[in-house]
Amino acid sequence: MPPEATALPEAGDGPLVVELAERRYPIHIASGLLDQAGEILAPLLPRPLALLVTDTNVALTPHLGRLETSLAAAGIAVRRLVVVPGESSKGLESYGRLVEAMLATGIDRKTTVLALGGGVIGDLAGFAAATTLRGLPFVQLPTSLLAQVDSSVGGKTGINSAHGKNLIGAFHQPLAVLIDVDVLQDLPERELKAGYGEVIKHGCLADADYFAWLETHAAAMLAGDPTLRMQAIRRSVEIKAAVVAADERETTGQRALLNFGHTFAHAYEALTGYGDRLLHGEAVALGMVKAARLSAALQLAPTADALRLEAHLESLGIATDPRRLLNRGFPVDAVIEAMTRDKKAEAGALRFVLWHGIGRAFLTGGVDTAILREILEVDA
Ligand code: GLY
Repeated sequence: MPPEATALPEAGDGPLVVELAERRYPIHIASGLLDQAGEILAPLLPRPLALLVTDTNVALTPHLGRLETSLAAAGIAVRRLVVVPGESSKGLESYGRLVEAMLATGIDRKTTVLALGGGVIGDLAGFAAATTLRGLPFVQLPTSLLAQVDSSVGGKTGINSAHGKNLIGAFHQPLAVLIDVDVLQDLPERELKAGYGEVIKHGCLADADYFAWLETHAAAMLAGDPTLRMQAIRRSVEIKAAVVAADERETTGQRALLNFGHTFAHAYEALTGYGDRLLHGEAVALGMVKAARLSAALQLAPTADALRLEAHLESLGIATDPRRLLNRGFPVDAVIEAMTRDKKAEAGALRFVLWHGIGRAFLTGGVDTAILREILEVDA
């Protein structure tokens, strides 16, 4: 039985702030925020001119119209650039097309790029903003749960190379992040649950009380309770913002803690082709379970905590075993090979983020390969 869940503070009205000295920025989290975007952004933009980058899926929703109406009411002129949805838009070619289209509109360095969409749009538009005219201001308006709790905050922007995901990128912090929880109403259940992988990750790595709160409230939150959604997004983003503020450029090891479950997840994604077969958040859920089991097998954490994480995910219908999700397991050698390839850039041994238990993640260097293999063999 989980311990009695503690209450999370009411989601406050004021924005959270990522404390990065001259690059500090607000994260607004509220219902109806797209309708207030013009009012919020007008004082922040260097000039009332914006390039709005989105994809054809988002362009079919009311979100785009709500945002454009609000910007127009605040006197912000907008040019819209629409890309195809999906990971293929994070390639060099689409990046090149986007930057050329941006330049063709006659922008200058005071034009702000607005990214309205999920993680792909945020990463692509952010990288285009980072690299065009040596850096344009940009704003994140995330429309998926995963982007709201993870990829819109932190300043990592980038695109994919033939050698791997996100290998071409830049740190480029936004001017602001506007998280409108209403947009989640349109999100397909699969995407919502995939995004939940990144929600619970924040409890796993840094906050056992938050984990316990999610055990009690996640089902209602995923079912649509707006107050619970706001509270969960706010607490997740608070944790991420604090880690980013402490280690913006991932130099001290603190920021790496945000990668709990990701060493496994990246290997699973590589082995499934980074597509719809296995969404990033689904891979993270599988990976966190492995990280928890590995921590227990190495006698670094209680087995009970690994079981608690698995039971919680399963209770929400989130797969913890690749064989049930994909009708296949992952051969142990292939996973280890994919992990090694993924980490080549670090020119070192495989690094794992493990935990000493719920809420207590830490970064470790090499682990005993025999034990790693045992953990991977369970559902190979
Ligand atoms: N853009 C995601 C991050 O900085 O972590």
